[in-house]
Amino acid sequence: MSASEEETKQTIFYNARTYSDWQAKDIPNTILKNLYDLMKWGPTSANCSPARLIFIKSPKAKARLKPFIIESNLKKTMSAPVTAIIAFDIDFYKYLPKLFPHDLDAQNWFNYSKDVAETNAFRNSSIQGGYFIIASRMLGLDCGPMSGFDQTGVDKEFFPNSNIKSNFLCNIGYGDSKNLFKRSPRFDFDEICEIL
Ligand SMILES: Cc1cc2nc3c(=O)[nH]c(=O)nc-3n(C[C@H](O)[C@H](O)[C@H](O)COP(=O)(O)O)c2cc1C
Repeated sequence: MSASEEETKQTIFYNARTYSDWQAKDIPNTILKNLYDLMKWGPTSANCSPARLIFIKSPKAKARLKPFIIESNLKKTMSAPVTAIIAFDIDFYKYLPKLFPHDLDAQNWFNYSKDVAETNAFRNSSIQGGYFIIASRMLGLDCGPMSGFDQTGVDKEFFPNSNIKSNFLCNIGYGDSKNLFKRSPRFDFDEICEIL
C-alpha cells in the first residue's frame, strides 16, 4: 500500500471522528461548491440524484434553523461554521430525462406510486448523505451528522410548497478535538458479516 493510500484511509475512516466543537474558522463558499462537485459523482438508482442541499451559513439562516434543533444539538449547531440540510425531493423522477437520457422510460420506474417514489428518494438521499461525509473529509473538513431536529418544522421553514423533505442535518467545519470522547467500538467482521 502506498503512503497516500494509508493517509486516505486515516483521513476518511480511522482518524475521522464526529465533531461537536469547532475551530473559529470559516468555510469558503468555493469549498462548499467543491464538496458538492465531489459527492455528486456517487451512484444512485438510475442516477436519480434525489438529494437537495441547503448550506446554512449566515447568522440569518442559522436563526431560522434554531427553533427546530433539539436542546442537546443546539450549541454544536449554532457554533458550526455551516450546517447542511440534506433533504430529498420525492418528485426526483421528473428530472430523469436529463439525468438518465439513455432510457426515457426511467421516470415510469418510480412515478406510479408516492410510496415507491418516497422510498427511493429516502434511500438514495441517505446514500448521498454518506457521500457528503466522505467528500467533506476528503476536503479536510470535519462532520457532525444529526437526526435530532424537528423534521416537519424544518420542512415548513425551508421547503414550503414543495415535495422536498429533510433527511438529516450535518454540521461541517474544522473540528476542535479537545472534548472528543473515546471512540466507540464497531462490530468485528465475524459478528455481523457472512461470506456465503
Ligand atoms: C444519521 C446520523 C444521525 C445522528 N444524530 C445525532 C444527533 O442527533 N446528535 C448527536 O449528538 N449525534 C448524532 N449522530 C452522531 C453519532 O452518534 C456518531 O456519528 C457516532 O457515534 C460515531 O462517532 P465517531 O464518528 O466519533 O466514531 C448522528 C450520526 C448519524 C450518522
